[in-house]
Amino acid sequence: MSNESKTVAVLGAGTMGSGIATVMARAGHRTILFDVNENNLKRGIETVHGFFDKSVRLGKLDATAGQAAKDALVGSTDLTDLAPCDVVVEAVFEDLQLKKEMFGRLDEIVSSSTLFHTNTSTLSVTGIASGSRLPERVVGTHYCNPAPLMKLVEVADGRHTAGWAHKATEEFLGSLGKVCVVTKDRPGFIVNRFLIPWENSCIRALEAGVATKEDIDTAVIGAVGHPMGPFRLLDIVGLDIHQQVATRLYEQLRDPRFFPPPMVERMVAAGDLGRKTGRGFYEYENTRLFGS
Ligand SMILES: NC(=O)c1ccc[n+]([C@@H]2O[C@H](COP(=O)([O-])OP(=O)(O)OC[C@H]3O[C@@H](n4cnc5c(N)ncnc54)[C@H](O)[C@@H]3O)[C@@H](O)[C@H]2O)c1
Repeated sequence: MSNESKTVAVLGAGTMGSGIATVMARAGHRTILFDVNENNLKRGIETVHGFFDKSVRLGKLDATAGQAAKDALVGSTDLTDLAPCDVVVEAVFEDLQLKKEMFGRLDEIVSSSTLFHTNTSTLSVTGIASGSRLPERVVGTHYCNPAPLMKLVEVADGRHTAGWAHKATEEFLGSLGKVCVVTKDRPGFIVNRFLIPWENSCIRALEAGVATKEDIDTAVIGAVGHPMGPFRLLDIVGLDIHQQVATRLYEQLRDPRFFPPPMVERMVAAGDLGRKTGRGFYEYENTRLFGS
């Protein structure tokens, strides 16, 4: 697959879908952001536009390139609009049946050479691929959040992923400026195997009153050189998503370090999900998912 401008679709306009769509549009691909929920789609498009507007304001992008990136993005709630796509990246809810069903429906709409990428965090790529008549075209591509800023993508083949699909995926991600690491289709891939227990231990330190969230964040930035501390990161990820990922990995790996601390359950019950709801560990006036 050559890497000139393609038609790409992203399923799900939430935190990850809007981030991945930003990456695609910035790279010059005609990008269709698809969601079943019109409000989420609108918000996702606003998030992408907001990211490009801010990039222009900060001088990271010239105004013409910013406008071109915005123009490359279209929204859709009609799956048949995806017919011309070369690549479809699914970033819908973390639900095996839903992800399988989306790929099964797309089989009937797109060409047999279209690549299917899944951004699942905890589900089996093989299991998701079984929803497609052509599981050889399905590849796991796990982006880091926030996708427009983080270069790493974990690439995981399912049991039936074809060599051509893996190769085309790595080439495509490389053309987006991403750095690929290859991982087996195992729970947590590489990153969440260490990130989730680490985030949980930071939350436990806060619960135990060891230090304030601000000081823990500052300590992590200063000591380990991370670009942001765990509580800022968790607010971007979403406390509901952290709870879901941590619980699912705990259920699969049976390692107590993955089990989300009680503070997470209380925050989710209160609706303090992070940036998307305006309050998580910190408070936010702007609830855009990333970028400002
Ligand atoms: N949040 C993270 O940090 C993160 C990181 C890496 C991977 N992931 C994975 O990415 C995926 C999406 O996570 P998220 O955090 O963006 O979730 P989210 O809840 O922010 O967004 C999910 C979106 O999917 C949409 N959706 C639901 N059903 C749909 C359908 N049938 N067709 C189209 N859209 C549909 C919803 O309306 C919503 O807008 C999940 O598989 C998650 O595990 C999340």
